[in-house]
Amino acid sequence: MSEISNENRYLHAIPMGLGAWQWGDRVVWGYGQTHTDEDIRRAFEISVRLGIRFIDTAEVYGSGYSERLLGTILKTQDQPLLIATKYFPWPWRTGRKAIVRALRGSLDRIGVQSVDLYQIHQPTPLMSPETMMEGMADCVKEGLTRTVGVSNFGEKRMIRAYTSLAREGFPLASNQVHYSLLNREVEKNGLLARCHELGMRLIAYSPLEGGLLTGKYSSANPPAGLRRTLYGEMLRRLPPVIKLMQEIGREHGGKTAGQVALNWVICKGGMPIPGAKNQAQAEENAGGCGWELTQEEVARLDEATDDFREYRRERSA
Ligand SMILES: NC(=O)c1ccc[n+]([C@@H]2O[C@H](COP(=O)([O-])OP(=O)(O)OC[C@H]3O[C@@H](n4cnc5c(N)ncnc54)[C@H](OP(=O)(O)O)[C@@H]3O)[C@@H](O)[C@H]2O)c1
Repeated sequence: MSEISNENRYLHAIPMGLGAWQWGDRVVWGYGQTHTDEDIRRAFEISVRLGIRFIDTAEVYGSGYSERLLGTILKTQDQPLLIATKYFPWPWRTGRKAIVRALRGSLDRIGVQSVDLYQIHQPTPLMSPETMMEGMADCVKEGLTRTVGVSNFGEKRMIRAYTSLAREGFPLASNQVHYSLLNREVEKNGLLARCHELGMRLIAYSPLEGGLLTGKYSSANPPAGLRRTLYGEMLRRLPPVIKLMQEIGREHGGKTAGQVALNWVICKGGMPIPGAKNQAQAEENAGGCGWELTQEEVARLDEATDDFREYRRERSA
């Protein structure tokens, strides 16, 4: 592993974060139907009370509402928190300056002077990683973000981003990608190892595979909406995995399947950022860190999920 730069060291000290896509998103997450602002505020507060200090949002979550709600909630907090948000490369704003302008918009919505981590949400053929990193470097130079990350970048693009940001004098801090027991693509394609080699943090999104790994869904009780379509086949193959996770959780004083799933990501060297819709979910998720699966348990979980095919179309490229 290459040495972790001083700028990025803080990110490696965070075991787990809190995802904020659920905050205001109606289409995928049913905001307004399954959860309200008050639920979100409580989920946030319990997370912070239980030691979660890293919040991941994006300008596109709830079309800006996630960032605005975060700003409202932050005003009531006196704890030091680390804020990450993302630039979405819409086709109509792909220049270097657009990135700085977009971050200023995010800062206005969140109500802060700067964030800790600014990430490119996903690659696009309309803007090269080099141009993206020029814009990100401008954001650092203007004091608008402390560090820079990418998301959904495959290895080649990540290295191009890493190299061009290094030319500007800044180390690329992270790559946020889909990583869970049911989607181990980043282990298999070498991206996880590459992040470690480069001293970058791999931030794992959907670490509960959209709630599947909590064990509450089954073929007889599938999640609603888009997830039902995405996860139909996985649900059929899930029961033995959940059973194993529950067995392993019992060995650790009654940890739940979801907590085992989050701890597995941590043991692999990723930082999980589970989303939570309410206080109970956030409280349970916070119990996914602060303890450790044995190597033998990790190996058993690996074996049980090794041939899980990826049914979801990935954006990583
Ligand atoms: N960079 C990207 O492209 C990208 C993509 C996806 C996500 N993300 C980030 O990663 C975060 C997490 O990923 P995600 O939200 O896709 O998936 P996730 O964390 O795997 O699943 C979150 C969902 O699982 C259910 N859940 C969570 N905790 C639970 C618990 N303790 N018990 C029972 N159910 C529970 C809730 O939905 P139900 O109650 O409805 O089941 C919740 O909305 C997002 O919030 C976002 O910040 C980034």
